[in-house]
Amino acid sequence: MTHIQACLFDLDGVLVDTAKYHYLAWKRLANELGFDFTEQDNERLKGVSRMASLDILLSIGKLTLSEAKKQELAARKNDWYVESISQMDHTEILPGALVFLQACRDNGLKTALGSASKNAMTILNNTGLIPYFDAIIDGTRTSSAKPDPEVFILGAQELNVSPERCVVFEDAEAGIEAARRACMSCIGIGSPTTLSQADFVIASLADMTVERLKQLEQA
Ligand code: BG6
Ligand code: MG
Repeated sequence: MTHIQACLFDLDGVLVDTAKYHYLAWKRLANELGFDFTEQDNERLKGVSRMASLDILLSIGKLTLSEAKKQELAARKNDWYVESISQMDHTEILPGALVFLQACRDNGLKTALGSASKNAMTILNNTGLIPYFDAIIDGTRTSSAKPDPEVFILGAQELNVSPERCVVFEDAEAGIEAARRACMSCIGIGSPTTLSQADFVIASLADMTVERLKQLEQA
């Protein structure tokens, strides 16, 4: 590939471990509705927008509800989630994230956030991550959720870098598909089995260096 000029990062599951808070809030909702919701079920919600997540959850519980009721349930889940993330601080930044973000900046690579979450700014503020980004694109700025490429295309535009020169870091299948559709390289964070569509997969950003990124240029 051509010379890499920018790194675009997903938030939940890549920079911070918020998947557990999403899981606890969805599980509480499912339990209130009278069915169980397992960690395995939760895998299907990673990277998926709030309303699409609710649809998956309701299909697991075999429930069909009106649009008004769905809005009410999504708001209830979000209230619980917001309560959890309001307690977050920098200690919840995932291993290796800060070091790699800083290394990108020290090496002249631009950085952007590309998240589906409408709560991204709260998390970035509470963890002190805001100064690490040249551009921040979140769920309040997009009209189509991942796997649609909009979030990453907007990020590249805001950085003024062409998509082929961007690398996306993602922990969700929907996010990797979004990166592919945006014509960007993609590094998966998590399990190689689940994230087989990525260029390569690492366990966490602690395994990432700018030197390793350069290997993608030779690929
Ligand atoms: C993604 C998460 O980053 O954001 C999903 O992986 C979540 O689990 C989605 O549903 C939307 O988040 P929010 O904060 O807008 O409900
Ligand atoms: Mg994620």
